[in-house]
Amino acid sequence: MTTLKLLSVASEIYPLVKTGGLADVTGALPAALAAESVAVRSLVPGYPSVLAKLAKAEAVQTFADLLGGTARLITGTAEGLDLFVLDAPHLYARPGDPYVGPDRLDWPDNAFRFAALAQMAVRIGQGRVPGFVPDVIHAHDWQAALAPALLHYAGGRRPGTVMTVHNLAFQGLFPAHLLTVIGLPPASFSIGGVEYHGAISYLKAGLQFADRITTVSPTYSREILTPEAGMGFDGMLRTRVAALSGILNGIDDAVWNPADDPRIAATYTAQAIEARGRNKAALQSRLGLDSKPDTLVFGVVSRLSWQKGLDLLIAALPTLLEHGAELGLLGSGDQELEDAFASAQSAHPGRIGCVIGYDESLAHLIQAGADALLIPSRFEPCGLTQLCALRYGAIPVVARVGGLADTVIDANAMALASGVATGLQFAPVNAQGLNGAIGRTAELFGDRQAWVQMQLNGMATDVSWRKPAHYYATLFRNLVAARAAAR
Ligand code: ADP
Ligand code: GLC
Repeated sequence: MTTLKLLSVASEIYPLVKTGGLADVTGALPAALAAESVAVRSLVPGYPSVLAKLAKAEAVQTFADLLGGTARLITGTAEGLDLFVLDAPHLYARPGDPYVGPDRLDWPDNAFRFAALAQMAVRIGQGRVPGFVPDVIHAHDWQAALAPALLHYAGGRRPGTVMTVHNLAFQGLFPAHLLTVIGLPPASFSIGGVEYHGAISYLKAGLQFADRITTVSPTYSREILTPEAGMGFDGMLRTRVAALSGILNGIDDAVWNPADDPRIAATYTAQAIEARGRNKAALQSRLGLDSKPDTLVFGVVSRLSWQKGLDLLIAALPTLLEHGAELGLLGSGDQELEDAFASAQSAHPGRIGCVIGYDESLAHLIQAGADALLIPSRFEPCGLTQLCALRYGAIPVVARVGGLADTVIDANAMALASGVATGLQFAPVNAQGLNGAIGRTAELFGDRQAWVQMQLNGMATDVSWRKPAHYYATLFRNLVAARAAAR
């Protein structure tokens, strides 16, 4: 098989910069695609955390004025990733979160920060950077989504373009007057272009002009065609349905491996699953929960936002407590939810333990120590924590939406009888539905045999990138072949 060259463009990449699952995906896909003879270079902004880790760095081009300041395009490697890093201090030399300042508000120049990233992708795509001319550009989310549009309007030879939507809620909306500043022609400001309710939408730019669109699960790829889940883009997406498909995410099974995980209290395998108990004890102690080995412990690892439905969990806490369960939560995000979980903990010490913040190690311990992982999302393009839960023998209890619906086999009567259940799904996604799911979980927890069977089924599920990477590689190759045939 000939090697296909792919330029992946994203604002996050694990382990260099991460706010959520996007980073996990862009960080893990390159190695998984290598096994499919796809050679990936990842273009990322030169945040301080990225530049600090860069090895074999070499500036390949310099720019006297890239949207208001000097910039350099650097090649290098970090943590096994082959990178193009856009070093533009006026845009990226800021510590902390990649999108928001210390006041938690979007950086006022985000339009420029991510237009610059897309402009660099275009340069590389057009073969104007010696040493790497991609066959395909893979743009992730709105931060990279201008690239397909800029390439379209530039005309001339260009690589194939694939736009992956990780979350339709983030649309990259900016004022119309920036249009030409960011490099788009006046004619692009139309309904068939990048215009969205009087503004520019970077995400729409990608959705409109990419050769192929993917989302991160098959169910989400259908949901977004409906007004309920389309977030205003469903009509536009219906016009592009022939180009749209869903490919499930995987997880990095080297980073997430209970048999060999330095971040947990005791490693374990499906063959000796009792050893999980030591992680449960460590988790209870870490979160100040009563140390009762037989108590059902629900875990949560999540951004605290409307999407994740954790306000529903606040409403369902009385039910969880009535069932005698404990809750261990790790999350950060909306102030209101952070406060609500902090006060729930004060009201129920020993029963509810919350860490408000971001903690990679604790995320692993929760997966290894909790009996069940709660994910009551209102919508979920894919979701990764339920995949980690499957691998770690924590039973995922999930809303029946998006990728959650695609990855968890609900413990209904038939699935239990056939011995294939891996978790619980609930619908409708409201407090009542969640209450019901908590009750069902407690009941199943009382049936040791059924419970352990579910754990073992989950741990035997392939949640790696192997299959998804094959689907991506096939999509890229088919695209290249289709474009060659059309020439
Ligand atoms: P999303 O990207 O919508 O936040 P995903 O489930 O796709 O949801 O990915 C979330 C990723 O972020 C997972 O790797 C999860 O373990 C991690 N994560 C989320 N919140 C935290 C947190 N507070 N601390 C550590 N890791 C977190
Ligand atoms: C987004 C989605 C999440 C998905 C992740 C990676 O953050 O909210 O469902 O798993 O991207 O694709």
